Amino acid sequence: MKGKFITFEGIDGAGKSSHVEWLAETMRQRGVVVVVTREPGGTELGEKLRGLLLSESMHLETETLLMFAARREHLAQVIEPALKRGEWVVCDRFTDATFAYQGGGRGLDRNKLQQLEHWAHENRQPDLTLLFDLPLDVARERIALASRVLDRFEQERADFHERVRQVYLDRAKNNPSRIRVIDGQETIENIRKSLEQIISSI
Ligand code: TMP
Repeated sequence: MKGKFITFEGIDGAGKSSHVEWLAETMRQRGVVVVVTREPGGTELGEKLRGLLLSESMHLETETLLMFAARREHLAQVIEPALKRGEWVVCDRFTDATFAYQGGGRGLDRNKLQQLEHWAHENRQPDLTLLFDLPLDVARERIALASRVLDRFEQERADFHERVRQVYLDRAKNNPSRIRVIDGQETIENIRKSLEQIISSI
């Protein structure tokens, strides 16, 4: 069986991460070998870059290049080898996040992002992207309830996150066969049902 590359996306507080492990476990029960990973991160080097990216302030282009540097390593060390072995890779965020956060949120030119995408993974796109969407105020409330120190992105103002959300939704509209929008306000049970249906269809 051919490996599949599945990514999870959404604004901070959309609730996607709690479904990542569940999906992986569901697939394992069906006999699929699944690698669960995340971005930025997923490798020893990538996790170190994640620590910097989530805490240190830096120039927007530095931030973008580091996101792609972590991704390049992740593809080389984890994603491509697993797919080649026929395994599934379930990844919490990927390049759609860079278009949404660095492009939408921070305003980096889309052409530059496309060039970097082409450079870092010309021939690789997710087979399926699950975009968790919900109104910003609901997502903000969830983050506020988390009672932990917020990272550099979570601390951004509401208009930043509104732009992130908009880019995600635009990308979903322009890539309807790859990106499936999940209503993040639905109950966990209903979300799981939708995920099962979508996964069965691929
Ligand atoms: P997480 O909280 O979902 O693990 O993601 C960490 C943060 O990193 C999240 O706020 C989004 C941000 N991020 C970007 O800004 N650009 C990217 O390319 C990726 C992968 C994440």
